[in-house]
Amino acid sequence: MTIRDIAVVVVAAGRGERLGAAKPKAFVDLVGKPLLTHAIENIISLPGLAHLIIAVPEAHLLEAREALDVVAAGTDFACDVVVGGETRQASISNTLGLLSNEVQIVLVHDAARALAPTNLFERVARSVRTDGISAVPVMRVTDTIKRIDGVIVKETLDRDYLRAAQTPQGFIANELTSAYASAVTEFTDDAALMQAAGHTVRFVEGDERAFKITTAEDLAAAELRFGSIFRTGIGTDVHRFTEDTQKPLYLGTVLWPGERGLDGHSDGDAVSHAIVDALLSAAGLGDIGSNFGVDRPEFAGANGRVFIEGALELVNNAGFNVQNIAVQIIGNRPKVAPHRDAVEAALTAIIGAPVSLSATTTDGLGFLGNSEGVAAVATALIASRLAS
Ligand code: CTP
Ligand code: MG
Repeated sequence: MTIRDIAVVVVAAGRGERLGAAKPKAFVDLVGKPLLTHAIENIISLPGLAHLIIAVPEAHLLEAREALDVVAAGTDFACDVVVGGETRQASISNTLGLLSNEVQIVLVHDAARALAPTNLFERVARSVRTDGISAVPVMRVTDTIKRIDGVIVKETLDRDYLRAAQTPQGFIANELTSAYASAVTEFTDDAALMQAAGHTVRFVEGDERAFKITTAEDLAAAELRFGSIFRTGIGTDVHRFTEDTQKPLYLGTVLWPGERGLDGHSDGDAVSHAIVDALLSAAGLGDIGSNFGVDRPEFAGANGRVFIEGALELVNNAGFNVQNIAVQIIGNRPKVAPHRDAVEAALTAIIGAPVSLSATTTDGLGFLGNSEGVAAVATALIASRLAS
């Protein structure tokens, strides 16, 4: 049976000034959830976890508590959320008084290293348990490191003796609490604080995924790791040819002179409507009906451009840019080739990304083969705007 004697302290109380987002860094979204939530998700399955303590800015106490309740639902370790301090060290100090009695090993972790995997926590904890001393995960450095003084390079350090430190860093609980109680200066990490208090610190192999998210570029790199900056969507629309010989045909927002028009509450522009559905579907925002209520009086006879611009605004507000749109008309008529360039140019100008139009028939089969109506199928590729 695993001994349950590990506490993890997550510091999430920084302002995230270098990231420059509207909220503190730990509460900034990464593929749909805050960095802090990612960090917690990687901790809850740590074998031996007895206590999780999180330090957050005062204004985010409730949000953190709620996030923790969701992620840790069904688990039975103790959870606490506390208000952090002015510095990282002060934030950690605020958590240490809460440590439960059974805790022997404390892992201190930065929420900013949100993607540190569970097995890194395990490796650090195992090292502390086995050797009985502090353990810090490290990575080899790849750059050549120079020691400088002013503008002068004083020395090139031997890379074999250099490592970059990550978190979680692991400690014997009572050693950590007493070192913190007596610390009088600020240290950049807990291993340094422990060494200054006379403790020996060993290193274990770090993990690339434990990199620290500091700047917008780091957040973008984190997002890329999920491979999820791109999303696709699909949309289909069908309209029947009208009996009204006076009604003009609009497809892809432009007039197709001399062709019979399409029925519909709006102007029946199946191409534009399929594009709107593809855009909304890519962003997970429903469809044309759920957003624009196509029966609404203000949309009577409306040009497809109105819906496309509306959808673009929704997609942009949700944090996405359109990469490209492909749309295909299915039907026996109208003949698409003479209009392709005009439609592609009009749609590309409205959407601000390449739009391609193709066409196919149904080998004479069905309502599209006998020219009762026109169908259009569109796909959209959108990309999440990386934090800027
Ligand atoms: N931290 C904290 N309390 C502070 C300062 C930092 O809990 N007073 C936490 C951060 O939330 C972060 C970790 O310590 O998870 C590492 O700090 P850093 O990456 O510097 O984050 P911030 O201080 O938030 O960022 P910045 O320095 O750019 O403002
Ligand atoms: Mg900081």
